[in-house]
Amino acid sequence: MSETNITLNAESERLLQYENIEIAKGLVKELEASAGRKLTYYVKTFGCQMNARDSEKIVGILEEAGYVEAESEQADFVIYNTCTVRENANNKVYGRLGNLINMKKKNPFMRIALCGCMMQEPTVVEKIKTSYRQVNLIFGTHNIYKFAELLVHCLQNDKLLVDIWDDTDKIVEDLPIKRKYSFKSGVNIMFGCNNFCSYCIVPYVRGRERSREPKDIIRECEKLVADGVTEIMLLGQNVNSYGKNLEQPVTFAELLRSINEIKGLKRIRFMTSHPKDLSDDLIRAMAECENVCPHMHLPLQSGSDRLLELMNRHYTKQQYLDIVTKLRQAIPDIAITTDIIVGFPGETEEDFQETLDVVKQVEYDNAFTFIYSKRTGTPAARMDNQVPEDVIKDRFDRLLAIVQENAAKKANLLTGKVLPVLVEQINEQDDKLVSGRLANNSLVHFPGDASMIGNIYQVRLLECKGFYYLGEVE
Ligand code: 5AD
Ligand code: SF4
Repeated sequence: MSETNITLNAESERLLQYENIEIAKGLVKELEASAGRKLTYYVKTFGCQMNARDSEKIVGILEEAGYVEAESEQADFVIYNTCTVRENANNKVYGRLGNLINMKKKNPFMRIALCGCMMQEPTVVEKIKTSYRQVNLIFGTHNIYKFAELLVHCLQNDKLLVDIWDDTDKIVEDLPIKRKYSFKSGVNIMFGCNNFCSYCIVPYVRGRERSREPKDIIRECEKLVADGVTEIMLLGQNVNSYGKNLEQPVTFAELLRSINEIKGLKRIRFMTSHPKDLSDDLIRAMAECENVCPHMHLPLQSGSDRLLELMNRHYTKQQYLDIVTKLRQAIPDIAITTDIIVGFPGETEEDFQETLDVVKQVEYDNAFTFIYSKRTGTPAARMDNQVPEDVIKDRFDRLLAIVQENAAKKANLLTGKVLPVLVEQINEQDDKLVSGRLANNSLVHFPGDASMIGNIYQVRLLECKGFYYLGEVE
């Protein structure tokens, strides 16, 4: 397919969706007239930043169609944007779905929709079709841009519609989006993943890697900044391989440098980096670009070379440690965070000690620790030496203790310093305080009011409370 063809197809798809938004508007008006009130929606997001961004796209369409936001699942359109990276995420959805269906029995206007990664698993869809027939709509990760069209189906009748695709090469630009925060936003730079880490279900449910054109990304960032956004998080499963599949390849470092030029954009973050693709040029770009935050989330998964190979990660413990050294040399104040899996099949105490050794050497600012979860269809699920639960639990607790000790130690180093904080919201416990983040992503609470939200203040960090600070404006 030529580039023009892809552009034309995506463009006609975009126009079709806008036509469907108009149809949905009319249908919502009719339903409002018979209900004698506004129709409401509730979007529940499970999982990662990708899903959070997808939910903003769904909300964008629902609000264009005329729905207003509800505080709870007592709403006329309820959608769960699901995650399936670990088994317990799936169980949570089934639990809540039962309650939703009871609510639907009392509200004839109610529609229930399910989307996201979990819906890309055929067994899940089968289970919903047989046990939760009252659901109206199931769609997956590849056709979210068709949501306006799917919504129209839902508004026209109360039957189940299932629309799941195996993959897509299409990226449809410029559909409505409603941001959760006025001053910060995620921006997708790529979709999907080609890595097939042996424990991970993501490549099966999010499809092959596709990068957006730099011009589309930059245009979106500029529009966001013009609309008051000061912080952007660039999103991709493996941002370090960004741009490799474009007709005119561009590296992630080059993209960062261009985004750093956007006037008015104060903070640039990105997620997630894969160590195997992290280039020296990216480290240079991070050091040079003043708006790129000094924070690197660099999933380790395991410190054992043997397990890293079985996990299909393509780096060794030493290569990982070398990247950390280079990052700290180039950007001395950088915060480094990670993801670690405990209990991968066949993990021995020796393997686990290698992980602890990396954790001790790197002294992470924070680490997300996960108990290995067996995902059907992945190579690791077919490995027969699963680690017993009690052994995993013991290792997990030992790991967590060291992670927390390191995090507290790292956080304490900043106590007494005056640093810029971007105010995000009124503090949830005390409305005389505001809560914001340092460039390294740490949380700070200090006296303030709602007028400060979205602005950056110089704040003295008076006291470190483990994973957050109490401070005051200088
Ligand atoms: N079990 C446990 N953790 C997993 N992750 C991905 N797949 C699994 C799994 N099967 C973790 C990885 C990844 C993070 C987003 O989730 O650490 O970096
Ligand atoms: Fe999963 Fe590995 Fe892709 Fe991350 S890089 S989404 S862990 S397969």
